[in-house]
Amino acid sequence: MILYNAHLPGIADGDTLVLVAGKIDWIGAMADLPAVYDDVQRVDLEGRLVTPGLIDCHTHIVHGGNRAREFEMRLEGASYEEVSRAGGGIVSTVAATRDGDEDSLLQSALPRVDALIAEGVTTIEIKSGYGLDRETELRMLRVARRIAQVRPITVCTSFLGAHAVPKGSDADHYIDEICIPALRAAHAEGLVDAVDGFCEGIAFTPAQIARVFDVAKQLGLPVKLHAEQLSNLGGAALAASYGALSADHIEYLDETGVRALAKSGSVAVLLPGAFYTLRETQSPPIDLLRQNGVPMALATDCNPGSSPLASLLLTMNMGATLFRMTPSECLAGVTAQAARALGLSDRGEIRTGQRADLAIWDVADPAELTYRIGFNPLWKRVFAGEWT
Ligand code: NIG
Ligand code: FE
Repeated sequence: MILYNAHLPGIADGDTLVLVAGKIDWIGAMADLPAVYDDVQRVDLEGRLVTPGLIDCHTHIVHGGNRAREFEMRLEGASYEEVSRAGGGIVSTVAATRDGDEDSLLQSALPRVDALIAEGVTTIEIKSGYGLDRETELRMLRVARRIAQVRPITVCTSFLGAHAVPKGSDADHYIDEICIPALRAAHAEGLVDAVDGFCEGIAFTPAQIARVFDVAKQLGLPVKLHAEQLSNLGGAALAASYGALSADHIEYLDETGVRALAKSGSVAVLLPGAFYTLRETQSPPIDLLRQNGVPMALATDCNPGSSPLASLLLTMNMGATLFRMTPSECLAGVTAQAARALGLSDRGEIRTGQRADLAIWDVADPAELTYRIGFNPLWKRVFAGEWT
């Protein structure tokens, strides 16, 4: 397929893309189109903006139930940590997720997935972490894989067994006897693309996370970490020492942590939806990340508690308004940098050889994607060269 009369930001004199066998085969000016493409079907984009398909690199989109009541408790003054210590928070979603079978978890996740797809998302990451037992952790990951069978998107899975300590359990016992065996079982079933954890006072210590990461390393799986969200336990530096794909949240990251990420080449995944929902006041160290050349991605963190957000466009707006990221950083944050956070080098940029996952927008200026609130200017999507 030939897409001509396209607005391709950053590509001097290029207004045409040729897609062949699911990839971008040629980029340039229509006037220079090589004759080999003479017979290929053409579509006039009438000047519309083309970006890579958007990538949501951090979600908990598969889960049972909702936490609207907890939302009300927080409005009445309870903090996220207080709710969590009172038996609400992550472990209350665990009960609802254990209750759901594969089909019901799939049916409840799909409307949220569809909301992302409607805004041009073509790749999403999905975590386990609301099972906290072997059976449910694996079920969540199977549902994540099924989403990629019933929708045209790519799904990258992360095993997040180390998300919370289940009610009545001891954290060390849980890590060694439940979480790590579940990771091995999920890996054996081909369900795991990466291993994640939650390093925090209300979750796991760096030493406990390190035990999970050691197993990930043995299995040849990349790691990432929820780190420095509510306090600084040195989680990002720990993740960096394992060559992590990313450190996520990082509101409380300090300069030592930033340097560690810069050295390991890990991506800082910023989650303004959780910052907004929890009314946090400590912003991630954006200037330090910039100064040290740490790539910044943005993601929804779509989950029932800290970020009930299913809009990557709104996430971009929040990245700008709450974290003062520039509109071009926001767009790179949901395309090239998000691809990097997932270890995917075949997507996220408009470049020859890249997978033809594209979003086509009815806007004149790419900054419009970040600046509007609650408005979706998507015109068409292309998944691996196919229109939808
Ligand atoms: O990314 N920080 C830990 N995990 C999730 C929260 C999940 C929940 O509250 O259910 C997060 O914010
Ligand atoms: Fe998260």
